[in-house]
Amino acid sequence: MTILAHLSDLHLIERRHFRRGALDRSRLALLSVGTPLDAEARIAATKSALAEARRLGAEHVVLTGDLTEDGRDEQFEVLAEVLADSGIAAERITIVPGNHDGYSEPGTYARALAGPLASYRGTSAPGACTVLEDAIIKPISTMLEGQWIVRAGGLVRPDDVHSIRRLANDTVSRTRALVIAQHHPLGSPAWAGLEWFDGVENGRALHDLLLERTRLHVLHGHVHARATRNLCGREHAQVFCTASVRDQHQTLRLYKAEDCTLRELGAPTLQPVGSVNTSHTPLLAATPVFA
Ligand SMILES: [Fe+2]
Repeated sequence: MTILAHLSDLHLIERRHFRRGALDRSRLALLSVGTPLDAEARIAATKSALAEARRLGAEHVVLTGDLTEDGRDEQFEVLAEVLADSGIAAERITIVPGNHDGYSEPGTYARALAGPLASYRGTSAPGACTVLEDAIIKPISTMLEGQWIVRAGGLVRPDDVHSIRRLANDTVSRTRALVIAQHHPLGSPAWAGLEWFDGVENGRALHDLLLERTRLHVLHGHVHARATRNLCGREHAQVFCTASVRDQHQTLRLYKAEDCTLRELGAPTLQPVGSVNTSHTPLLAATPVFA
């Protein structure tokens, strides 16, 4: 059995955001509308969620995008600091970018992966994948670089669908749950006419692959709400979304991968930070291998 923790939508901001120019400050205010621009509160919420994942014995932590509010270099530096402070080894963390991580100039996320987030390249760079005892974590980016902040949509790239299919056909995934980590959901928004603003291009291709392969699962964020989807009346769910860490409620989901299937474990977010979870069962040590 392999235990995975799932966090999303941290929306971290730099501590000195008030020193930005007027235009940049306006962009940040617009993106954070309805949420205080409190860098320390967002950092604390992320640290708390990571500490909870660690305390509950997660063997691997998956962060499904919108790691930053508007994808600035300084915000990725904050993320690197928070992840390092968690005490969770870099090879046990997978990160993927969300639409907010692409709102700065093109290439910023790649620059962060080559710079402050370099420790996470092994699990999170394009083409990476982490093989655990009962799960394989495959990150894909659905981010569109440099897009307007009024557009929140994404793209499931055909090359990624091919590589997921190849991985699903590989002997390594025959005895494991294959877990795709991405920011966007597979479907388009419920409201007609919003596809351009918030749709996910080519999401159908991955959705069809999930219908084909019962071992395939998707962890995503973006909608800031907890959701679970079973496809075609299947007994086990294959698509899981978690709420936003920035919103500071119901932020952590825990899953166990076993017998090629991912299933949710309990409701750990109900545990107050700092308390001891006496119901927690000791876990096997993780033995990550990188393909
Ligand atoms: Fe978000």
